[in-house]
Amino acid sequence: VVDVKGGPDEGLDRLGQTLVVQGWVRTLRVQSSVTFIEVNDGSCLSNMQCVMNSDAEGYDEVESGFIATGASVWVKGILVASQGSKQKVELQIEKLITVGRSDPSFPIQKKRVSREFLRTKAHLRPRTNTFGAVWSFVKMQSVARVRNALAYATHKFFQDNGFVWISSPIITASDCEGAGEQFCVTTLIPSSPEVTDSRVDAIPKTEDGSIDWSQDFFGKPAFLTVSGQLNAETYATALSDVYTFGPTFRAENSNTSRHLAEFWMIEPELAFADLNDDMACATAYLHWIIRVIYHFCMWKVKYVLEHCKEDMDFFNTWIEKGIINRLSDVVEKNFVQLTYTDAVELLLRADKKFEFPVKWGCDLQSEHERYITEEVFGGCPVIVRDYPKEIKAFYMRQNDDGKTVSAMDMLVPRVGELIGGSQREERLEYLEERLDTLNLNKETYWWYLDLRRYGSVPHAGFGLGFERLVQFATGIDNIRDAIPFPRTPGSAEF
Ligand code: 4AD
Ligand code: MG
Repeated sequence: VVDVKGGPDEGLDRLGQTLVVQGWVRTLRVQSSVTFIEVNDGSCLSNMQCVMNSDAEGYDEVESGFIATGASVWVKGILVASQGSKQKVELQIEKLITVGRSDPSFPIQKKRVSREFLRTKAHLRPRTNTFGAVWSFVKMQSVARVRNALAYATHKFFQDNGFVWISSPIITASDCEGAGEQFCVTTLIPSSPEVTDSRVDAIPKTEDGSIDWSQDFFGKPAFLTVSGQLNAETYATALSDVYTFGPTFRAENSNTSRHLAEFWMIEPELAFADLNDDMACATAYLHWIIRVIYHFCMWKVKYVLEHCKEDMDFFNTWIEKGIINRLSDVVEKNFVQLTYTDAVELLLRADKKFEFPVKWGCDLQSEHERYITEEVFGGCPVIVRDYPKEIKAFYMRQNDDGKTVSAMDMLVPRVGELIGGSQREERLEYLEERLDTLNLNKETYWWYLDLRRYGSVPHAGFGLGFERLVQFATGIDNIRDAIPFPRTPGSAEF
């Protein structure tokens, strides 16, 4: 158990105490009289420098070369003041036990490695971590701890504000966005006991060898969910304020730094609420998140202080210089709000050439979104509302102009669209008409339509992509480094 958390300045109050550290060897330096072993147990970014003399118990393990980068060890020693400049304290080893040796082929040695390379070693990349070294990659341990803190802060925000967390299903027959970007679920049918380990062979086939889709989900079509929203709406129209927080899937073949095939989404849904309530909720939530991450001193969020201050300092110094100050400025401000029509005006007047030309009715591309928040509004998040109905999903409430819907997207610097939300169409006849116009099968939405038949209420909600939030909070530029095991087209190995 390591009790020296929170960085290299910590631990001075524990000098002279005997400690046990269990962790993984980052580096090993054998000198003639003394050996330095840097051990990390994942509790913080810093390693524990352990110093071993040749008379310490277990030194033969070092001599015989069994302790190498990657090995797991148990060390017991006394905490002493360090002579080195990098840390205030170090552990003078009395006893070392090798728990698991590491082969010299351990692929992540102390040298510059690229993020692309690390993604091919997703099972070992959380072990990349050396405090003080200027490495050109994101430290996945830090990402994991910040991600965890953001998840904690998310639940805390909604719980403290009376929202009930709903587990929405992953397997569903409904297509929330109506965009047909779903993965299909198939039931494997082993043809004989010998082939049970060959899942590809066990995908049900018809006589001509093509995939038999009638076997999908025990004979019914089923897909991975693109959003928990429709299910959240059913609970919002009974419990009032609810939220989901879970994995969602999109079969879109996009290879960008903002898209994943599997990502986590936070989806609050508020009953007796309109688009203004929705935007207020999204703003309050993001303000809270920024405070939690950058204003560590709040007593309520001591947990975050203890777990990732050092990690945030790392991002602030090495990944996106000055991000803490920039976002701290934003937290006191109300976010900019403007209509889609005004946003298009701004883009048309821009003295900048866009790759995708702009005209009223077009979907905003990432370059447009970033221009608006970064260049027009100086890094402040911007909420764009009232989009043309043609480019938005069927469930959004039609505005009185007949052309736009009560939708809102929150755009933030570097990331672009962080949040997409709307007031929902609560009027049965409008909703049915929209489904018909879009050629969506009303039969599969029968239960969703029921919500409008029985006690319909104005309600609204939004979805926030959790990995994009991690990008926003840390400055990580590629979404593949914001999730432990990224799923992108063709990549699902680990
Ligand atoms: O705008 P989207 O598609 O909206 C919905 O799914 C609604 N049902 C949400 C709701 O109102 N409850 O997605 C919402 C957010 C986006 O703003 C973005 O942050 C994220 O989800 N997102 C993705 N993140 C990573 N990879 C992808 N492929 C994403 N697609 C959407
Ligand atoms: Mg969207």
